[in-house]
Amino acid sequence: MYAVNIRTREKKTDVSPELYGLFFEDINRAGDGGLYAEMLRNRAFDDGIVPEGCIYDSENKLIISPTGWRSSFDCCENEAVAGWSASDGASMSLTRQDTLNENRQRALCVCFNGGKISNEGFNGVPAEKGKSYRFYMFAKSEAYVTVLVKLESKDGEKYAEHKFDINGAYRKYECEFTSEATDFDARLVLSSESGENVTLGFVSLFPKDTFMERENGLRNDLVQKLLALNPSFLRFPGGCIVEGFSKQTAFRFKDTIGPVWERKPHWLLWSYMTTNGLGFHEYLQFCEDAGIDAMYVFNCGMTCQGRCPDYFDEQLVNEFFEDTVDAILYATAPTGTAWGDRRAANGHSEPFTVLKYLEIGNENWGDEYNKRYEFFYERLKKLFPQFVYISTDHTEQAGLKTEFVDEHFYADPVFFAANTKLYDSLDREGACIYCGEYASTIGCGEGTLYGALGEAAFLTGIERNQDKVKMTSYAPLLKNVGYVSWEPDMIVFNNHESYAIPSYYMLKMFAENRGDYVCGHSVATESDRRIEKGVFRVDGRKPVESRVIPKGCETDRDSLADGSLKKTGVGRFSAVFYGSDTIKIRFWDKGTEGENQDHYDWTAENGKSSVVHYNGWSKEIICAETLCEVSNGRNNVEIITAEDSFIICLNGKELHRHVLEPIPHMTVVCTVDMQKNEIITKLVNFSETEFKAEISCDRKMYDSAEMITLTADDYNACNGFDAPKAVTPYMESISASSHYYVKIKPRSINVIRHKITD
Ligand code: AHR
Repeated sequence: MYAVNIRTREKKTDVSPELYGLFFEDINRAGDGGLYAEMLRNRAFDDGIVPEGCIYDSENKLIISPTGWRSSFDCCENEAVAGWSASDGASMSLTRQDTLNENRQRALCVCFNGGKISNEGFNGVPAEKGKSYRFYMFAKSEAYVTVLVKLESKDGEKYAEHKFDINGAYRKYECEFTSEATDFDARLVLSSESGENVTLGFVSLFPKDTFMERENGLRNDLVQKLLALNPSFLRFPGGCIVEGFSKQTAFRFKDTIGPVWERKPHWLLWSYMTTNGLGFHEYLQFCEDAGIDAMYVFNCGMTCQGRCPDYFDEQLVNEFFEDTVDAILYATAPTGTAWGDRRAANGHSEPFTVLKYLEIGNENWGDEYNKRYEFFYERLKKLFPQFVYISTDHTEQAGLKTEFVDEHFYADPVFFAANTKLYDSLDREGACIYCGEYASTIGCGEGTLYGALGEAAFLTGIERNQDKVKMTSYAPLLKNVGYVSWEPDMIVFNNHESYAIPSYYMLKMFAENRGDYVCGHSVATESDRRIEKGVFRVDGRKPVESRVIPKGCETDRDSLADGSLKKTGVGRFSAVFYGSDTIKIRFWDKGTEGENQDHYDWTAENGKSSVVHYNGWSKEIICAETLCEVSNGRNNVEIITAEDSFIICLNGKELHRHVLEPIPHMTVVCTVDMQKNEIITKLVNFSETEFKAEISCDRKMYDSAEMITLTADDYNACNGFDAPKAVTPYMESISASSHYYVKIKPRSINVIRHKITD
């Protein structure tokens, strides 16, 4: 049976106006050459510089941080200068002498000699016929040298040209030119007949057509895709890049403001360098231009805890605290103050009014975090009470004042579909939740319909609880196809076009159809049993298959389980542990690791026993802690599993008996749009079953309704450059009334807008 009964007169909670936002992090080269419209790769000649404090291991092409974290590193050994090449008799070399300014570690010495140097951009420089480009370079030469700057094809066909006479100390040489042809694999070329040396300190090429035509601006097509999502806020700049994996790779606001050629570069822990052109000012400017709130995430005195953490000492924590205070003042102080004047000098004399949220760290937890959270929260709240503060852990459980907790979920679609009730039991008096990063990852490749279905089901649960779960943002947002560090990503781009994955279209449907309040509704649905399989595993012992019914297990199962376990897929694990403080047994382990891990962990420790499901980077508490006794001597443990249930015994005592929640086919949330006098029903069918849903309502409704559907014939359906609209929503008109039946497609996400007539 599939039925939705809607009670519009029962107001459950107001809709949270800020529920759908954006989270931008420079990952997958989302910044330079992506959202940040710079067209030249390695414009500041920093690529290949080993980050301070790290050791380069050339054999394995990686760097090792002071705390021992290893990360892949391209020292650009096979390229004379990353992104640049010299030909036709020209020669070039990097120098650390006489750079443009103290933040530029290198400059490029060129002797053209009738030849040329070219920049290949980010997999090609995308020239478009009739479009204009802004070029500038800081150059110096002791002699007079005439340099031609061109947009050219790979074979030397000229599309645009400008001539500069270079002489003397570093100066900015700039021009605008228009391309005579379209070629997405063009080059930016500098050539000269002269045999004299020219030194380049910094070179840049931007399209004129950026978002709001801002110099140093953002790529318009990508911004338009972001804005089409109706976001209410932007979380920036990360993510793990805020934390870094060393003191030197942690994000510092001060490095990201001022003239771009004076900004320090930043080695991102996603294994590439950013020139920091997309900095604090640009993020705020984007929020202002887009009319959305800004959420600034800052480092609170520690590096990424998953990457050999470094907990900064008091002095450095203070430095990061000062950096945060300065960032806030930069955004908000009036002119006439030091930071207000700095902002004005960078082109924004009025304070920015968009800054609303401050997040203390990213994905930090535990005692070290709690100390730093308290330090930052207490001081910042006193200085700047007007902001909303976000914690990255449940710091309220450590007795600390907590306004919002940022929770992250990266898991498989089933995890999301099975957790639609996660927030139903939230403490209404406690901190609010910001679901700041989530995505179906495991088994979802570059982004599939299946992923979007899981997320949509999860979001119906969030929408029902938006009195407390007030904000969400999908992650990651952007991926340059040529430079992948993480998948899936919501929008995929190359140097001139982009497409969005099904999750994007699902989110667009959800964000465009909000209503004013969540109304009462009850749902009846069929469900599917959850089916788990995998091996039992104990560190240091041989894994044991759990799908095989071991000899004698049936008898044990019957006596332990009173027949409540299903007969199929029964597995049994028994073992003896001697004098252990901790017993940890993994079951239903699919054998995958890291971001694809999927296993259940039973842990008996310090007199407490619990079961946790690790799925991707997410963690689901299956059995909350219960008391147990681990003996100093011999401990007999026994776990019996069926496909969706398990029993765990220690020394003959049953500690846990659990049947996994079935996965509902249909999940629903209903809101009322008071202005339009409409009921909005979001209805997700996660299953492969097509069904008729019975819809009934306490109001009179028009005889037709508008239904928007996102579906495909296959869970794995996805979009791509060749078929960017393969999985996109379509709209149809359906027959409706205050009691009617509507056909729901298998694997579908639906929004139905009913007009109320009474
Ligand atoms: O979104 C990718 C990464 O996932 C973010 O940097 C981090 O916060 C999380 O671990």
